[in-house]
Amino acid sequence: MLNFYKDYFTCVADKKKDYYTLVNKKTGDIFSINYIGLFVLKICETDSDENEIIRKTLENFNDINEDEVKDYIDQLINNSVLIVTDNTYPKKTFHIQWHINQQCNLRCKHCYQEEYNNKTELDFYEVTNIIDKYFDLIRKWDMIPEITFTGGEPLFRHDIFDIISYIKNKDSSSRIFILTNGTLVSEEIAYKLKKLGVSGVQISLDGPDQETHDYIRGTGNFQKAICGIKNLQNVGIWTSTHYVLMKENYKLANDFVKLASDLKINRTTFSRLVPIGNGVSSSVNMLEPDELKKTLEEIILESNKYPDAYVNTERDLFRLIDSSYGSTCPVGDNTLTILSDGTVLPCRRFPVKIGNIRYENFFEILLDSKLLNKMKTNTIDDCTSCNLKDMCKGGCQGLAFSYFGEYMEKADPQCWRIYDKLPQKFSIDFEYDHLQAYYIMPLNEMKEKNLL
Ligand SMILES: C[S@@+](CC[C@H](N)C(=O)[O-])C[C@H]1O[C@@H](n2cnc3c(N)ncnc32)[C@H](O)[C@@H]1O
Ligand code: SF4
Ligand code: SF4
Repeated sequence: MLNFYKDYFTCVADKKKDYYTLVNKKTGDIFSINYIGLFVLKICETDSDENEIIRKTLENFNDINEDEVKDYIDQLINNSVLIVTDNTYPKKTFHIQWHINQQCNLRCKHCYQEEYNNKTELDFYEVTNIIDKYFDLIRKWDMIPEITFTGGEPLFRHDIFDIISYIKNKDSSSRIFILTNGTLVSEEIAYKLKKLGVSGVQISLDGPDQETHDYIRGTGNFQKAICGIKNLQNVGIWTSTHYVLMKENYKLANDFVKLASDLKINRTTFSRLVPIGNGVSSSVNMLEPDELKKTLEEIILESNKYPDAYVNTERDLFRLIDSSYGSTCPVGDNTLTILSDGTVLPCRRFPVKIGNIRYENFFEILLDSKLLNKMKTNTIDDCTSCNLKDMCKGGCQGLAFSYFGEYMEKADPQCWRIYDKLPQKFSIDFEYDHLQAYYIMPLNEMKEKNLL
């Protein structure tokens, strides 16, 4: 597939002669093209199949043959005007986790956020602009669209159904998921989500019982979340749950596997507390590495006992127990996270700004981010002699950053192969945006670390 990233170039026409000068705004490189070249690039804006580009060019110009067009395209490729991307099948998914708002009806003790207002929320028009940019990426890279709406509480946003309809109208095969606290999922909302063709809904449960869940998420919310699950199941929506492991609930993880099986949940995911936003608090605490090890071992045993809980063991540190579990983190490859003001992070667990999608397009962020690129290889000293080095890539590097303020330099602070106890947490002195809970890495720091 051939791609022309129009926004990277300025095109200047020489009126006397019959050619145009393309200036690459990023590199300063200059390349001359004639009217045929200009025509080829115009087609590339909407079509990326080489045969189609050749066919349309030949259809429009009598004075050129197929070999000449191919030759021309090769020159554009050699001069990095056209970029070739891989179209090997099966197609890959490009996933966006979109924190569409910050408003929420709950105030959970461990929440990533610190603020719950709508000061920075984008309006419907700005949201649809971003969706259009996203589909530009999907079309050019020939990938499968998948968007997960989260928040805040996404069902608290008044136009969430209009946003979903807008996406479905663009491409009805788009996969849309919702992450919710479940408390607002009435029969009517469940029915609306079903009618809109939402692929699945995840409801957060942070305890297998009222006491534990409500300690973290507020009184009365366990029963409401369970009711939300039932409403979704009654209309036939694929329903999953998510449990954040922390000192306050880890001893009950086994009971949770049984509950998920009783509730006939389609998938049960465990993740770990990340110390950002309100999650940095004495009322919620990260597990020690040995506590995490024991808990994951028990979850595996329990999930074998209750296969109907569909426990998702394709998560980071499960691999340390048995290398047949776990999956390699997709950050830096086919996923991005967008916050409610358009800020782009590698992942919500990884609170470092890498752009803002209101002012940049996806290509700029993805192709330019050295930070994302660095994620592809594990260069962490501590991991050098570990046999899982290339698959594990240092565990959750988002968590490592939130803990140490270091990126691809320290292993996951809960990796029990390295740490007997949670190591000392660093205080991160980068500029911090309290409204959205992310860090801005200073330019000199990025230069020093070769991330710019
Ligand atoms: C940010 S919430 C937004 C969606 C919805 N309000 C909810 O609670 O499910 C999405 C998920 O992130 C989890 N989460 C929030 N803060 C976290 C933190 N500090 N560390 C790990 N997970 C966290 C929540 O428990 C929830 O499962
Ligand atoms: S975790 Fe979800 S439900 Fe809880 S306060 Fe944060 S956004 Fe709201
Ligand atoms: S030592 Fe590094 S690569 Fe090995 S399991 Fe721990 S974090 Fe992963």
